[in-house]
Amino acid sequence: MTILLIACTPDEQIKDVTLPPEAESKSLEEIKIGFSMDTLQEDRWFKDRDLFVEAAEKAGVEVEVTVANGDDVKQVWQTEKMISEGIDVLVVVPHNAESMAAIVERAHDAGIKVLSYDRLVRNAEVDLYLSYDNEEVGILQARAMTELVPKGNYVYLGGADTDYNAHLMKQGVFKVLKPYIDKGDVTVVFNQWTKDWVPEVAQANMETALEVNHQQIDAVIAGNDATAGAAIEALAAYDLAGSVPVAGQDADLAGVQRIVQGTQNLTMYKSIDDLSERAVELAIKLALNEEIQEDRTINNGKINVPSILLPPVPVDRTNIKETVIADGFHQEKDIYQ
Ligand code: BGC
Repeated sequence: MTILLIACTPDEQIKDVTLPPEAESKSLEEIKIGFSMDTLQEDRWFKDRDLFVEAAEKAGVEVEVTVANGDDVKQVWQTEKMISEGIDVLVVVPHNAESMAAIVERAHDAGIKVLSYDRLVRNAEVDLYLSYDNEEVGILQARAMTELVPKGNYVYLGGADTDYNAHLMKQGVFKVLKPYIDKGDVTVVFNQWTKDWVPEVAQANMETALEVNHQQIDAVIAGNDATAGAAIEALAAYDLAGSVPVAGQDADLAGVQRIVQGTQNLTMYKSIDDLSERAVELAIKLALNEEIQEDRTINNGKINVPSILLPPVPVDRTNIKETVIADGFHQEKDIYQ
């Protein structure tokens, strides 16, 4: 049966959709999305939470948000509770890519589909993965850094080992660095994960990298802006902040401010507006059992997960205005305060 959904999707377009019989009875007001978040540690996650809730309200669906503060047991428990109390679709940002697999199974047992948001749940039959292209983040970081520093000693401060994004980014970085390494132009003198993305861990790692290499570091690629900021603190202790190029990601306000100040060279802008709006739109489709046109698939160890990956945008001091300011991601007055 074909019906018209009018003015109720996030982009307020009229959509011609075909609903399977079991979904016909659900109206948008009856849909409840469970949004299980790992953390609010970085700036971006506040935006994800608020913009997701805003988009859900705009679409006319209910949403419940939980935040596990980096605790796997808590995230499983919070999600189980949402499933048993009744949600129509689960959107999850896993703290631990592997630990949330059990939750996907539990959701499916209850007839609830699962959208992996930003981070992929591994080894589970995830219905859809929506994120920025994390491998591309790494590729763009490394490409920009090799342009700035074609020869020298590199430090790689990866993200959390438990976050599959960190692995994808690392793949991207090393794909670009490999020919430089093979030629002997680049040496990765330090390469470590950052437990739970904690900046203090990244700072301690950067201090070690500086000490063991007698400060002979020419470039730093960090998993995100929070860890890049921590690396810059460590560089500052040796008066090297600003003279050693550093790359991060997220376009955190502090990261963009450091780009203006000259201590950080690059970040990756990922519009959270686009991500959260898209997520709500797709979560509704999953709840209604509608067809979703994915871009590609990504193997998560168990299946090829239908995936939609948005393109990250590199930001350096030359394009702050056209990117994060033009989009209203940050205000000019806050960046140049
Ligand atoms: C996200 C980054 C974020 C990091 C730490 C990653 O999975 O893609 O944007 O900075 O987690 O929360």
